Amino acid sequence: MCGIVGYIGEKPAIDVLLNGLSHLEYRGYDSAGVALYENSDIEIYKASGKLINLKELVKDKEICKTSKKGIGHIRWATHGLPTTVNAHPHTCNCKSLAIVHNGIIENFQELKEELLKLGCNFVSETDTEVVAHLIAHKYTKCKDLLEAVRLSTLEIKGAYALCVMHKNAEDEIIVAKRNAPLLIGIGEGENFIASDIPAIIDYTKKAIYLNDNQVARVTKDTVEIYNSDKSQGNNKVENLPFEPISLSKMGYKHYMLKEIHEQGDVVRNILSGRLISAEEDVKLDNITIDLKNISRIQIIACGTSYHAGLVGKYVIEDLTGIPTDVEASSEYIYRNKTANKNTLVIGISQSGETADTITAIKQVKEKGAKVLIITNRPDSTMARLGDSLFSIDAGIEVSVAATKSYMAQLLALYLFAIYLAQNNPRVDMKAKLKEIKHDILQLPSKIEIILNNKDEIIEISKKYSGFKDFIFIARGINYPTALEGALKLKEISYINATGYPAGELKHGPIAMLDDSMPVLAILNDGIVYDKVLSNCQEARARQARLIGVASGMDDKNKEIFNDLIIIPKISDFVSPALHAVVLQLLAYYIAGYLGKDVDQPRNLAKSVTVE
Ligand code: M6R
Repeated sequence: MCGIVGYIGEKPAIDVLLNGLSHLEYRGYDSAGVALYENSDIEIYKASGKLINLKELVKDKEICKTSKKGIGHIRWATHGLPTTVNAHPHTCNCKSLAIVHNGIIENFQELKEELLKLGCNFVSETDTEVVAHLIAHKYTKCKDLLEAVRLSTLEIKGAYALCVMHKNAEDEIIVAKRNAPLLIGIGEGENFIASDIPAIIDYTKKAIYLNDNQVARVTKDTVEIYNSDKSQGNNKVENLPFEPISLSKMGYKHYMLKEIHEQGDVVRNILSGRLISAEEDVKLDNITIDLKNISRIQIIACGTSYHAGLVGKYVIEDLTGIPTDVEASSEYIYRNKTANKNTLVIGISQSGETADTITAIKQVKEKGAKVLIITNRPDSTMARLGDSLFSIDAGIEVSVAATKSYMAQLLALYLFAIYLAQNNPRVDMKAKLKEIKHDILQLPSKIEIILNNKDEIIEISKKYSGFKDFIFIARGINYPTALEGALKLKEISYINATGYPAGELKHGPIAMLDDSMPVLAILNDGIVYDKVLSNCQEARARQARLIGVASGMDDKNKEIFNDLIIIPKISDFVSPALHAVVLQLLAYYIAGYLGKDVDQPRNLAKSVTVE
């Protein structure tokens, strides 16, 4: 959620910190700060708002020219307003240390009361400041920063990735982690610390991932890792998967637009080696879970990944008949779990770090369920928790609004459903699978047809950008597409948009319809086509403006629509992947006309690492 960067070496630390923070800005961005070390002194600079404010603040500071050690943070507020005083780094009464933190300290009130009794003064409303005082207090007794951090973590309940510097600990930065990602980037005569790879990928492609409850001493030449009982950790150095180029906008105005445009290649990439031709079986070599005795599937995810899961339910049930439920992780974790050893749980997450989904996965593992993880981050916590991993390899997604990762998740679910069906001896559906595979193979070129002919979508976006409310309707396999289209629009344009099953319109929402509330209908040739058309008629009869997104339309029906976007012909089964592209573009251009911060919408973060 928030982002952490640390540096110790020979470069000006400020350059590494600000560069790293700029690559983490997509994770959280309501305030930022750095602490720089120089000659047994620590200077802290913080600014509310975007990173640019911090850059302005530090640009003429003397210490920036000389300091070669520092820590930085970009914040997404959990405790306290996004003010300068609540921004990280935090410090203690005597200002002898600086600390940055991701996560939530659950027992911070109890700890704070104890520390108040010891004479600590608090200036912020954050849980992090409590940890700063706690470590400082321990340090006065043990005079060893690593030990002070280790002892503090034994008292902390909750999630943390911590990065700490002390005035008296000249050559080191201490880091610790539990239930929040943290890695140490390895350089030559320099080392890096980050909560996520993009922060350090410009400098190194090698890193050590800390495990939960570990603490580490990072100097410019060494990394010492300890478990909570002081035994040594034997973490390996791993290769990082990203290329620096993937963090550039490549000439597009926003990352979101670039990522929407990458979707043809994203599909080609995920199909590569897995689906070669309509005649051949799908190959998923990484799936080692024994699927023979699976009697039920539960898909667990949040947000856009949840919507991909809803499409997955249609696809899996249609092709295999295996009962499949889709659960929003945040709801699932507080319910009685019915998963057992014959349940396959599919955890879907772009980031692989979504706290609710991680908790849900840990819970179902305890029930004996097998867990398949579908994620864009094979290096993530979730990927490490699963019994098998389906890495969707969409390339890093920087824009907060998920687009290409959604596309890749859909494809992963299609491939997985086909894989299950082709290996199921009870039903012979060769002909049906062949047709589906044929349609999937055509997706990249059809996506590109939409992307190359988007002028009409841009015009329609302009026309509708002044409306305050929208309803998106669809039925069947495209009902999740309606939910996803509405989510895209609301998160980047702040327009009130609701996704609704078209057949449910007359059971309530139709009361709201008049010419001030456009209805966007998703139509595709198939079993529900005529039904959705009837629902469009109902909306039209209430003077609602109708936008149709359809794979073809008879002339006689065209006239009920105020605006119609025709996509390439595609089977209903595979069509969510094409309709999604249109809805992403609509949301993008409407938000653009409204002058919104498309890549970093207010109040959101790319990776939601708190429950
Ligand atoms: O990383 P995840 O896929 O687990 O994230 C889940 C949601 O937070 C995410 O999809 C969110 O809804 C996006 N902002 C959607 O664009």
